[in-house]
Amino acid sequence: MSKPFQITGKSSLVGLIGWPVEHSLSPVMHNAAFAELGLDWAYVPLAVTPTSVEQAIRGLAALSFVGANVTVPHKQAVIRYLDELNDAAQITGAVNTIHIREGKYFGYNTDAVGFLNSLIEADCHPKDMRVAVLGAGGASRAVVFALAKAEAAAVTVFNRTAERAAFLVDDLADTFPDSHLHFAPLTSQALIDLGDDVDLVINTTSVGMSPDIDSNPWPSDVPIPSHAAFCDLIYNPLETTLLARARAAGNPTIDGLGMLVHQGAFAFEIWTGQKPPTDVMRQAAMDGLGIK
Ligand code: ATR
Repeated sequence: MSKPFQITGKSSLVGLIGWPVEHSLSPVMHNAAFAELGLDWAYVPLAVTPTSVEQAIRGLAALSFVGANVTVPHKQAVIRYLDELNDAAQITGAVNTIHIREGKYFGYNTDAVGFLNSLIEADCHPKDMRVAVLGAGGASRAVVFALAKAEAAAVTVFNRTAERAAFLVDDLADTFPDSHLHFAPLTSQALIDLGDDVDLVINTTSVGMSPDIDSNPWPSDVPIPSHAAFCDLIYNPLETTLLARARAAGNPTIDGLGMLVHQGAFAFEIWTGQKPPTDVMRQAAMDGLGIK
């Protein structure tokens, strides 16, 4: 049985910088993990307005915080206040984890590793796969980076605003010249043209997220490719309309809870240097979502 949660004068502190922060599951996931390992650590939500980002970042060291997670809308804005970035943060242009060591600020993007670990956990190994990524926003950048690093055979980014997909592919092609990165508009015709030449489909758009749970980024007039696995980064609801359709067609599906847990687990490891209790973090996230 873990000890009751208590913050003391000796507690190591980490927090979540975002605006808003009240719906985040990160505090419950991390505090459950600290309790499980008996660590005198605490994770607190820190609501930071867009005009206060610099003061907030500087204040972390002043307040002896060990680090922080960073969420919408500050993932890009924090970068200018950091001393060093890991390759995922540098290449995606987004930081979701900060670690302060000897007064220096290190920025990480743990979404890429988190995404990859969630696939591996589901026994999906993207090496040599042909992948279709729906969406070209910040989440898509981390996903395409992870897929290129994992040596997917080819990645096509489909986006409503095709130029944004072109920009993303252009950007990452410089870092991964040997990867086969393509873009296309997110239209029925482009997905029909894809046909069955795809092993993995990943939704990184917000289409299908609560409360708009009946919407689906995969147009209803496009058949589900015969053997492709479908992954949705959305975790609320756990089974999106997209995943329900893929499952009904007999295709394997992977929900977004794994990425949520594993991006947090990697941040936990960076801060504490300890092996994260991922099962405890997953259960805490499920409890937070009200999933039985
Ligand atoms: P995130 O950081 O979560 O990826 P984002 O950068 O705002 O968020 O990106 C949201 C993604 O969802 C984009 O690819 C967006 O498409 P556009 O670039 O065309 O805006 C996509 N998206 C959001 N609403 C959509 C909708 N109704 N139909 C199709 N794509 C949508």
